[in-house]
Amino acid sequence: MASVSTLSSTSSIANASQARDLRKLGIDPDFWYPLARSRALKAGRTRQVLFAGRKIVLVRPEKGEVFALEDRCAHRQVPLSLGVVRADKLLCHYHCWTYDRSGACVSVPYLDGEQTRPNGVRAFPVREAYGLIFVYPGDVSAAGFQQFPELPRFSSTAYKTRTLDRSIACHWSFMHENLMDMNHQFMHRSLMGSVRATPLHVRSGDDWVEVDYTFHRSAGKQPLGERLMINRKQKPDAAAGRIDKMTIRTQYPYQRLQFWTAGAENPALDLWNCYVPTDIAQRRNQTYGLMMVGKPGMPGLIHLIWPFITWFTNGIFAQDQEIVEAEQRAFDEQGEDRNQEIFPAILSLRELLREKSVLLGAASVDAAPIRLADLPRA
Ligand code: FES
Ligand SMILES: [Fe+2]
Repeated sequence: MASVSTLSSTSSIANASQARDLRKLGIDPDFWYPLARSRALKAGRTRQVLFAGRKIVLVRPEKGEVFALEDRCAHRQVPLSLGVVRADKLLCHYHCWTYDRSGACVSVPYLDGEQTRPNGVRAFPVREAYGLIFVYPGDVSAAGFQQFPELPRFSSTAYKTRTLDRSIACHWSFMHENLMDMNHQFMHRSLMGSVRATPLHVRSGDDWVEVDYTFHRSAGKQPLGERLMINRKQKPDAAAGRIDKMTIRTQYPYQRLQFWTAGAENPALDLWNCYVPTDIAQRRNQTYGLMMVGKPGMPGLIHLIWPFITWFTNGIFAQDQEIVEAEQRAFDEQGEDRNQEIFPAILSLRELLREKSVLLGAASVDAAPIRLADLPRA
């Protein structure tokens, strides 16, 4: 018994020190995560996607809704994504074991119907919305299963949406910090000119943190891409209480940025992001973003200016990608998180991300996640 208690106390010390290091934590799987764009999965086809090292096959039947299964055949463990879609079933490429959308093996062609069929594979809940295929990789009986991101502006005729989808070589926490910390406008000086962000308020709740900013330009002119994207109706007038305002909110595990020009009721820009870890160590993420841009008053003008908006935002994202990947490399070289954070919004954000996340390093992707809240306090 002594060795058992030594082992468990050693592992809880290891857990506690891991729990302090945000970059060594895993994202909570008990949420809906976008794992592919709808257009990437044609009818009658399969597609392998990844969530934190777990391989999942998405299947779009000839008719009906997309379904998602573990991407392994229960027989010889080869990827089911190599298989063939017939009507609403998935046939393994090797010996044609046949699966339905619940993951049950419903036919083995070389067995007669009297013989017991083998067990199938796990199925995952799927929802398709906003041009994305969302999968719920966690425990379907867990509380919060119903939570799904609501984005009414996506279908509003007053907005046009750009979908972002890119692979970034860093832990998802760097992405949250990068977007929330607007004090890095200096890095975007080649595209944005001399803009300074002034933080106004930081607020937080059980599963969210948000910060408001306003901006001012200390020199130079507003770049064209930004001017086209931000459809301004009134000039800011601080004395009259009319200022531009940006709110950035992490509502675990999602993130949102909204920007209102002075005096406007609706945001000129509404960006929703989700950073989906793909590898088991969660040092790479697929970033999905829905950038909803308010249309200018003149009909059709948005389509004309869209290429400039695309060029401008691509430039900004490329600069952000370069720096967050550099942060990940620094972390890998140092082996631990040595950041000296001083900005209150990011301190709150880091605490939230730590509290809501799970321990990495389970022996198998199928193991139940260990929540930090369940560990003894160090
Ligand atoms: S490996 Fe899939 S049917 Fe044999
Ligand atoms: Fe940035």
